[in-house]
Amino acid sequence: MKVAIDGPAGSGKSTLAHALAERLDLTMLDTGAMYRSVTLACLEGSVDLQDDEAVTEVARRVRIEFQTAEDGSQRVILDGRDVSEAIRTAEVDADVSRVSAIPAVREAMVEEQRRLAATGDVVAEGRDIGTVVFPDAEVKVFLTADPEARAHRRALQRNVEDPEEEQVILADLKRRDEADSTRETAPLVAAEDAYRMDTSGMTIEEEVQKIAALVEDAKAPVPSVANDHDEREGERESAPAEVAKATVHDSSAEKPKPAAKKATAGKDASNEDKPTGRMRVFAHHEPDEFYDTAERDFPITSRALLGATIGVCGILSKVLWHWTLEGGEKLWKAKGGQVVVMNHESMLDPVIIVVSGWMHGRRMRPISKSELSDNKIARWFFARVGAIPVERGTADIKAVRRAQRALQRGEDIVIFPEGTRIHSDDQEVTIHGGFALMAQLAKAPVLPIAIVGARDGAPGGNKPLCPGRVYMKVGDPLTFDQIHEKSRKKRAKEMERLAMERVYELRDELRAEHPGKM
Ligand code: DC
Repeated sequence: MKVAIDGPAGSGKSTLAHALAERLDLTMLDTGAMYRSVTLACLEGSVDLQDDEAVTEVARRVRIEFQTAEDGSQRVILDGRDVSEAIRTAEVDADVSRVSAIPAVREAMVEEQRRLAATGDVVAEGRDIGTVVFPDAEVKVFLTADPEARAHRRALQRNVEDPEEEQVILADLKRRDEADSTRETAPLVAAEDAYRMDTSGMTIEEEVQKIAALVEDAKAPVPSVANDHDEREGERESAPAEVAKATVHDSSAEKPKPAAKKATAGKDASNEDKPTGRMRVFAHHEPDEFYDTAERDFPITSRALLGATIGVCGILSKVLWHWTLEGGEKLWKAKGGQVVVMNHESMLDPVIIVVSGWMHGRRMRPISKSELSDNKIARWFFARVGAIPVERGTADIKAVRRAQRALQRGEDIVIFPEGTRIHSDDQEVTIHGGFALMAQLAKAPVLPIAIVGARDGAPGGNKPLCPGRVYMKVGDPLTFDQIHEKSRKKRAKEMERLAMERVYELRDELRAEHPGKM
């Protein structure tokens, strides 16, 4: 994986690259530090900077390395000496544009940068990473920010408090912008396929989340089924039961059914279910078989029943509640399965989210409380519409594994972590964290969605049936790359917290947008 970050001085490339390197376990390559090191070596050796050949000779001769200090910071080593501070002086600032404009110096540096990156996954930052150094980088980002914001950032980094000194920094940034953008070799320009991000008003956390999501997207094409399966299997075996406890029970030694088809890379392919073996039409099937089988492999009769149920529920619910799903494309267009988590107000919630997804070609597997399947007819019906039962309040590992396999096949899991319908804001809520474990085991994103308006009027809400408008809103998918915690248990806990925090934020946004809706 190669992530290329380009942009002008002070746009926040280093901070972003550093945070991404840490979060996504990538090696950071600060190419600006390399041009700075060559400049420093020239200044210290009294090399005439107007003499291209002499400067190039220095660029070819010096040995530049990066080391990670104990505090996690990256140190720049020039010919065995730590020059991390020495390369960030005003003198180096003043001359580095001249040095980096020499084509032969750039050639030497680019060669070295490719050599340094050849050993693994890298996030590289500079001016020409996406255009020249790694034109095939999987993720390319071009940062911008207004010059004042960039100068202020630089001043803060260098502990400059004097406003006049900040003005000097601003003038230097502008001068370097001009020099870097207009030079003949590898000028500062955004690659055509770069994602452009103006960081002026953004926090570093927002920047990291955005780019980490792009990296996740870029990784999405599924590798071969066999590898995929083996890797996940290993992770599953070591998963702590405590995390599952919030939701589920029974750990049978069942083995996942081998997937018969190799998933090919690409958006459509990753959305495609891996078949589990088509169920026969006129045979007797236990509910368990439905829970373990991809919806597309249900017998045609069951699929017809599912389609008819979706059609009837879709039309009725649309007419009565005019529901809408803001940001729906994050659900409909996702690559691969996601764990959809929602707040729970009424019996309408699971119905309309499943209808909405199904209408856009998603295969949605709602996690239902096992009590719903106590009755034989209900069990027969819910199995055929794709529900997977879970024993609440116990460690139902069987349900977690079923959900995990559905996600790995590309199906979405729909889950209501509140575990019960919430009829008032004063009601005590216990969040069941099994959803985070499902996502963790399947390496799937968690998609937060909020609903308002169903509490007062929809079946199972506060009031008897009373039509009105229902609104839903989809947040950005959350991935484990965004979580800093090291231990698996803490990571799952943090995902649980983050996802529900987001669900409630979205709910509050909807309430503000639609006053009176709860
Ligand atoms: O990112 P920085 O400010 O540390 O970079 C110092 C200089 O090096 C900058 O003015 C332009 C140059 N540079 C370059 O030309 N190409 C790169 N890939 C990185 C930096």
